[in-house]
Amino acid sequence: MNNTEGMLKEGSLKDRTIIITGGGTGLGKSMSRYFLQLGANVVITSRKLDVLQATADELMKETGGQVLAVQCDVRKYLEVEKMVEATVAKFGKVDTLLNNAAGNFISPTERLSARAFDTIVDIVLRGSYNCTLALGKHWIKEKQTNKTILSIVTTYAWTGSAYVVPSACAKAGVLAMTRSLAVEWARYGIRTNAIAPGPFPTKGAWDRLVPGEFREKFDLKNRVPLGRVGEHQELCNLAAYLISDYSGYINGDVITIDGGEWLQGAGEFNMFGEITQEQWDAIEVMVRGAKSE
Ligand code: HXC
Ligand code: NAP
Repeated sequence: MNNTEGMLKEGSLKDRTIIITGGGTGLGKSMSRYFLQLGANVVITSRKLDVLQATADELMKETGGQVLAVQCDVRKYLEVEKMVEATVAKFGKVDTLLNNAAGNFISPTERLSARAFDTIVDIVLRGSYNCTLALGKHWIKEKQTNKTILSIVTTYAWTGSAYVVPSACAKAGVLAMTRSLAVEWARYGIRTNAIAPGPFPTKGAWDRLVPGEFREKFDLKNRVPLGRVGEHQELCNLAAYLISDYSGYINGDVITIDGGEWLQGAGEFNMFGEITQEQWDAIEVMVRGAKSE
């Protein structure tokens, strides 16, 4: 048993239909693969149909499961409605929405145009509420229950972060939506939860957040108390659990999976991890010798 293995029982997501926005690449692709291995039907959706179709073909061949690739810009509500219709036409129903699509890049905020700010907020926040609203309306109208919405946020949804301010604003909004709807839509049998990952290497994120030589200079694993980045399967295991019936009593929560990263930055004296044993000996002598005035 190790952290690169699937955790749930075979067939845990059998007959469930799962829409994964941004499912053609990165973490969305990894989660799609695992959900297929657990017996789900998967719909992957984003702007680039060629990327989606290549992923769909690869994953169907690899897992023997069914994948529908649907082009859809989540910023556009009409396209989202059509994507949901295409899903129902193919699989008869939808059970889970995974809000995973995102846009982001590193930049001093004062260098951003208003349109650049809009672009990120529109993909992350508008995209997530468009999909959530379309699915919620559909499920409530059809009186369908036992549905789940899972959103991928980040730990800076609550700490904020310099140099990714539009993303931080938008992810905070997605988290607020998650907690709000957990209460409002529970009566309709819809659970809403979120995952806040720390660094999990993907091309999409790394090329935009730690490009070129900065990747070594600001090695993200050095910020993580566990001293490493995340394994995709670790996130996949958590996501599969949160959308499955095994987590039926978890509603409105955000689960952090970051090796302790955000707390490392939070504790007043956490930087003392670099102090050697000899230095601690010296410190102890000084502290024991301290006298009150
Ligand atoms: C300043 C920039 C810029 C940059 C784009 N813009 N890149 N401004 N610095 N580096 C500006 C453009 O000039 C334009 O404004 C506006 O942003 C929109 O850019 P477009 O290229 O027209 O937009 P679009 O083609 O829609 O592409 C969206 C994108 C792109 C977000 C810019 O990077 C993208 O497609 N990203 C999708 C995938 C992604 O970002 N994945 C990473 C998620 S990682 P003007 O005013 O000039 O018109 C993540 C991890 C978080 O979220 C946590 C990690 C630990
Ligand atoms: P990624 O591979 O770049 O994934 C982002 C996806 O979003 C792409 O497939 C992209 O596809 C899609 N997308 C972008 N704009 C879209 C739009 N307007 N409509 C529909 N789809 C759109 O990056 P990733 O690292 O896997 O990120 C996945 C999720 O994890 C994101 O929510 C991200 O914020 C979150 N996250 C990642 C990390 C990490 O370390 N990797 C950490 C914390 C949180 P198209 O370009 O084809 O549209």
